[in-house]
Amino acid sequence: MREKLEQIQEEGIKEIRSTSDLKELEALRIKYLGKKGEITQILREMGKLPAEERPIIGELANKVRETITEELSKSREVLEAKALNKKLEEEAIDVTMPGKKTSLGSIHPLRQSVENLEEIFIPMGFKVVEGPEIETVENNFDALNSPKNHPSRDLSDTFYITEDLVLRTQTSPVQIRVMKESKPPIRIISPGRCFRNDTPDATHSPMFHQLEGLVIDKNITLGDLKGTLEVFAKSFFGSHTQTKFRPHHFPFTEPSAEMDITCFKCGGEGCSICKGSGWIELLGAGMVHPNVLEYCGIDSEIYSGFAFGMGIDRITMAKHDIDDIRLFFENDQRFLQQFR
Ligand code: DAH
Repeated sequence: MREKLEQIQEEGIKEIRSTSDLKELEALRIKYLGKKGEITQILREMGKLPAEERPIIGELANKVRETITEELSKSREVLEAKALNKKLEEEAIDVTMPGKKTSLGSIHPLRQSVENLEEIFIPMGFKVVEGPEIETVENNFDALNSPKNHPSRDLSDTFYITEDLVLRTQTSPVQIRVMKESKPPIRIISPGRCFRNDTPDATHSPMFHQLEGLVIDKNITLGDLKGTLEVFAKSFFGSHTQTKFRPHHFPFTEPSAEMDITCFKCGGEGCSICKGSGWIELLGAGMVHPNVLEYCGIDSEIYSGFAFGMGIDRITMAKHDIDDIRLFFENDQRFLQQFR
């Protein structure tokens, strides 16, 4: 038995040391130390030994078990460390490798203008209202005092959907919707898309943007219109900006005017942007025509109001010195990135 134990120890050590795998090591533990393992087997057979040999063999068996246990744990430590190192090596990240770039988007310059306009008008008490892009011919033209023979109603100017529906040519029909649905005092701005049957060029696009403004109350005068638009011009283009009103005609306002601002480029001295005049034509405005008020059920003897409409594309081009409206709609990153 002594020999057998010594043999077990020798073989065990050899086997354990030559293992390179943790699973194999576990199998060896069971083989030597398990309930049915080799050493347990011997301890079980000790009863057959003469009494004086039992303590000697017992002691030896315990020693062998201790040695094997120690060998197993040493080996386990080594193998576990190896496995960890291997894992670390496999999962290593090369921090010097170039990363993947995520390109960041930015707010479109037209949207920036709309937000900017809202920031200017909301503190003056205006509410933002939106209207549909598909409008009735009635709201887009008739209610705005544009008679059947008005040239803007022509097929070559307007996209018709049916005889009674058009892609709105202006944001002015939102005035009609608001005046029909609510009672004065009214103070709204309405940004949105408009459509005209125009061939695209540097200053025309069949789809463009306007911002409409409307104020209706008692005792509203041209002075209120001028003051409001002056605040807008100075806030949007800079405090040194001056404004000028020229008489004009719009069917839905009387009197009507166009507002110019001093050229943002030359400050009024004359340059290529303002074509030497020192002024830039900016928007249309006027006092709401009594016919329009009455059409919407507002008593024009009691109430008056002003309205204005500006091209968002146009004022954005003016502000940033952009020379082609088509740039807004081409989605060219090189253009858009300049307005981050
Ligand atoms: N809707 C006009 C256009 O497209 C712009 C305009 C002019 C709007 C005068 C107004 C206004 O509200 O009062 O040319």
